[in-house]
Amino acid sequence: MTFVVTENCIKCKFTDCVEVCPVDCFYEGPNFLVIHPDECIDCALCEPECPANAIFSEDEVPEGQEDFIELNEKLAEKWPNITEIKPAPEDADNWNGVENKRKYLIETPESENQDQQEK
Ligand code: SF4
Ligand code: F3S
Repeated sequence: MTFVVTENCIKCKFTDCVEVCPVDCFYEGPNFLVIHPDECIDCALCEPECPANAIFSEDEVPEGQEDFIELNEKLAEKWPNITEIKPAPEDADNWNGVENKRKYLIETPESENQDQQEK
C-alpha cells in the first residue's frame, strides 16, 4: 500500500506534506508532487497536512483519479526528491479546488519544458 498525490495538488503544490514525511518519499515536478510507492510506509501523516486535500490512501483515491496511482509511480522515478517545505506558487490559493486541472500537469523538468507550459 501507499499514499497517492492526486489532481488538486496541481498548481497548488503547498509542500506541507513534505515536512511531515518520516521517510522523505516525495518527489517534485514543476507544478505537482508525487509519492514514491516503494518508499512510502503508509504512516498517513501527510494526508491531513495537505491544504488542498490532495493526498489519499491508494484504496481511497477519488473516482476518476485512479490513473494518479500509476502517475505517482512513474513520475517518482523521474523527478528529484524534495525534503523541505518551500513557498507555494503565488496563485496557489486560486487553484485550490479548481476542477479538471489534469491538463495543466507538467511532467518534464522546467529546463526541458520552456515551450510546453499552459497548453
Ligand atoms: Fe510519507 Fe507517510 Fe505520507 Fe507515505 S503516508 S508519503 S510515508 S508521510
Ligand atoms: Fe501538493 Fe498538498 Fe503536498 S498541495 S505539495 S500534496 S501539501
